[in-house]
Amino acid sequence: MRLDQRVAIVTGGSSGIGRAVCLDFAQSGANVVVADIQEAPKQGIYHEQDTVTTTTQEVENLGGKAVFVQTDVANEESVRSLVDATVASYGGVDIVVNNAGIYIPGDSQQLSTQDWDRVIGVDFRSVFLLTKYAAPHLMRSRAGRIINIGSVHSFRGGAGPAYAPAKAAVVNLTRDSATELAPHGVTVNAICPGYVETAIQDYLTPEQIDEARQRTPLPRLGVPTDISRACTFLASDDAEWITGVALPIDGGWLAPII
Ligand SMILES: NC(=O)c1ccc[n+]([C@@H]2O[C@H](COP(=O)([O-])OP(=O)(O)OC[C@H]3O[C@@H](n4cnc5c(N)ncnc54)[C@H](O)[C@@H]3O)[C@@H](O)[C@H]2O)c1
Repeated sequence: MRLDQRVAIVTGGSSGIGRAVCLDFAQSGANVVVADIQEAPKQGIYHEQDTVTTTTQEVENLGGKAVFVQTDVANEESVRSLVDATVASYGGVDIVVNNAGIYIPGDSQQLSTQDWDRVIGVDFRSVFLLTKYAAPHLMRSRAGRIINIGSVHSFRGGAGPAYAPAKAAVVNLTRDSATELAPHGVTVNAICPGYVETAIQDYLTPEQIDEARQRTPLPRLGVPTDISRACTFLASDDAEWITGVALPIDGGWLAPII
């Protein structure tokens, strides 16, 4: 699956799943824009403790091309500047991966309204913003693609009153954008990961991680490349007639539930 000369914006590309997507895309020939609030990769307590090289440096080590654009995906001006900077660097946009995300633990009594707004802003509003500003460029592409990162919590509660509803909304926005952009040849799909070993899991206890492992039918937890490989497929010409889907990649976690 080749993405030669395609221009891809990957939000949250400095760490975790987004970083793996950047590396996979670059190895497939794409020019990558790493859009993140911080350039340094996150180091987790349980996962990715030793990751130090920036994504752009790692892409260059692989012989690919990448630029970093500091972006707060919840901020409209920042997202508009990201698209402008991408077009200035590479002349257009072919692929957008709305991956940046945060998780703030807490139930309705513990989560502040400010934190609720922040989760909705980073995990959901951002998808609307980047879709809005990138769509005119994607429509001019020969193979425009949007890939939104949801979660298994797109389909069930239990992850707090902000994260699960934001991720459910991402899936329905995916369907709406797919419908809107299909006449322009732009596909819009969501990938909904189960437990993937990244620094986002730092809020968990070792017992909770063990429980997640036991509840996953396949005998291991996910790793970022489990997600990036599917992302590369959805971005490729091989996926040109797939749009509006929400694909769980979860080692079977949802299978006994839905
Ligand atoms: N890891 C999992 O188990 C899992 C499961 C389901 C869904 N997801 C989703 O996958 C996506 C990636 O998560 P991850 O596990 O790689 O997490 P991560 O914490 O390793 O990486 C998230 C990246 O997003 C960036 N980011 C945070 N806020 C931002 C903002 N306002 N603007 C721009 N960038 C910002 C961070 O700096 C970081 O580089 C998220 O949307 C997350 O909800 C992850």
